[in-house]
Amino acid sequence: MKKLVVLVSGNGSNLQAIIDRCHGNNGIEISAVIANKEDAYGLTRAKDAGIEAVVVPSKGISDRSQYDSQLMATIDEYSPDLIVLAGFMRILTPEFVRHYQGKMLNIHPSLLPKYTGLNTHQRAIDAGDDEHGTSVHFVTEELDGGPVILQTRVPIFEDDDADSVFGRVQEQEHRIYPLVVEWFCQGRLNMANDKAVMDGEVLGQSGYA
Ligand code: GAR
Repeated sequence: MKKLVVLVSGNGSNLQAIIDRCHGNNGIEISAVIANKEDAYGLTRAKDAGIEAVVVPSKGISDRSQYDSQLMATIDEYSPDLIVLAGFMRILTPEFVRHYQGKMLNIHPSLLPKYTGLNTHQRAIDAGDDEHGTSVHFVTEELDGGPVILQTRVPIFEDDDADSVFGRVQEQEHRIYPLVVEWFCQGRLNMANDKAVMDGEVLGQSGYA
């Protein structure tokens, strides 16, 4: 059995996609969903699926290290094989990232290494890009800078705005994130020397293609 802990801050639609495809299938189980905000809708999704929903509130804690060590202690109670960041909107300390080295995934709404950080859809539109996308990657100490495992591209049309692009990107996210979680749990995927390795092959900058 591979045990997952999923971290969310908001809606949790990616969490839902992972619940629907992975939870209780092929020896994968989500042991807990942890949010830093008590009103994160992802907590409701977890409870509806019979998964433990836990809040480690970040409000009022300005010291990142203090928060991250509380979060780490909570996560470690479940001894997970994999930590899945699914719209967890906090910058993590190097200590936290090192603790889960090679076993923490994130999804970021851009074709990394383009547009790390926030407002990626608007930034792609403002730059006049005709395509955008999303990337699943291993988490390293560099913000949104870990090795990419899988990316998908979507077009940007002339009449698009950030909302329409967001919708198109999310559709793809819901397809690829559960797939990568499965790959990891099947033992097909690992991180070595800061590179993503799939079926023994080192992946390039755009991940599995
Ligand atoms: C997703 O689109 C994800 O790519 C993004 O937040 C959204 C969460 O949606 N993550 C980041 O921007 C991380 N830097 P969800 O809560 O519906 O899954």
